[in-house]
Amino acid sequence: MSGHDQTGPRLRDALQGIPTYKPGKPAQAEDGAPAFKLSSNENPYPPLPGVLDAAMAAVHEFNRYPDMACSGLHAELADRFGVPVSHIATGTGSVGVAQQLLQATSGPGDEVIFAWRSFEAYPIITRISGATAVPVPLDADEVHDLDAMLAAVTERTRLIFVCNPNNPTGTVVRKDALVRFLDAVPKDVLVVLDEAYNEFVRDEACPDGIELYRDRPNVAVLRTFSKAYGLAGLRVGFAVAHEPVAAALRQTAVPFGVSQIAQEAAIASLRAEDELLGRVGALVGERNRVVAALRAQGWTVPETQANFVWLRLGERTTDFAAACEASGVTVRPFAGEGVRVTIGETEANDLFVRTAELFRKEL
Ligand SMILES: Cc1ncc(COP(=O)(O)O)c(C=O)c1O
Repeated sequence: MSGHDQTGPRLRDALQGIPTYKPGKPAQAEDGAPAFKLSSNENPYPPLPGVLDAAMAAVHEFNRYPDMACSGLHAELADRFGVPVSHIATGTGSVGVAQQLLQATSGPGDEVIFAWRSFEAYPIITRISGATAVPVPLDADEVHDLDAMLAAVTERTRLIFVCNPNNPTGTVVRKDALVRFLDAVPKDVLVVLDEAYNEFVRDEACPDGIELYRDRPNVAVLRTFSKAYGLAGLRVGFAVAHEPVAAALRQTAVPFGVSQIAQEAAIASLRAEDELLGRVGALVGERNRVVAALRAQGWTVPETQANFVWLRLGERTTDFAAACEASGVTVRPFAGEGVRVTIGETEANDLFVRTAELFRKEL
């Protein structure tokens, strides 16, 4: 037929040149030496027995589709956070929900603002939506520059990500600064508070997005079961947002995207929250120990409130990552910028701290 190119399917121009998401490298064991993966901000603890049991019970029925409305999980989440059930939306990890938020708000000609460097999925999913990514550099302390982000708002802005704590720096925006920012952003722009690491926060000046969303219809909060709750492999995250944003998330959801196994495990995790948050407390203790050790070695380490630390190594980034790998820990390098290292098992953290010390001595 005329007008058709016979060389192959036409793909959207928007996809050209979009970087692919880089997963953290797996642990590389050499000669039977212990190897640890500190490259994906995962929880090093294995599933709790009760959570495993709940997931295993659902395994026996995977010939059936899951509950598409995730009713049990939504009810549990609404109760846990004291919000209406209609304000809860779940998806295939919080990155899946973030992508749905973009589908719901942004397309060609629209602009999406986020800090940079931040979660590497933001520019990818923004560009997939066809919208234009507007990255705004972090300030000198590796914190979101909210004034600059506000100055970047135009008539075309549809969505703003605020990653709090920020991946990969671990830094947080303070409540007073965030409230000023939210008050100044036009009300037709959706502000997404991505709180994937919320449970690791110990700084009281760091806001709880769920408190801030309550009287702000243009604020959506993203949380996940992947980090503190240790369900990364099951892919379940959620948003808390007012109607009509939550309704738009139901419209844009991949049907049956959250498996019954994930739903049951998430419910069991909420019920076992005390135990899980106890583990988070131990990881926070490890984080503080690692940060103190690195600073004692002379490194500049930004104040992290997440389950990882950030070292801005510039040109030495790749060498540092290679040194870590050689010693048995894989970390997440961002070439030319720095290295993000997840807080893992004590043994892994020790290995990393020792490697950092040796590397520093050789500088
Ligand atoms: C800031 C941030 N948001 C969202 C996610 C996505 O997590 P998930 O899709 O597993 O919920 C991550 C994962 O690394 C993250 O760092």
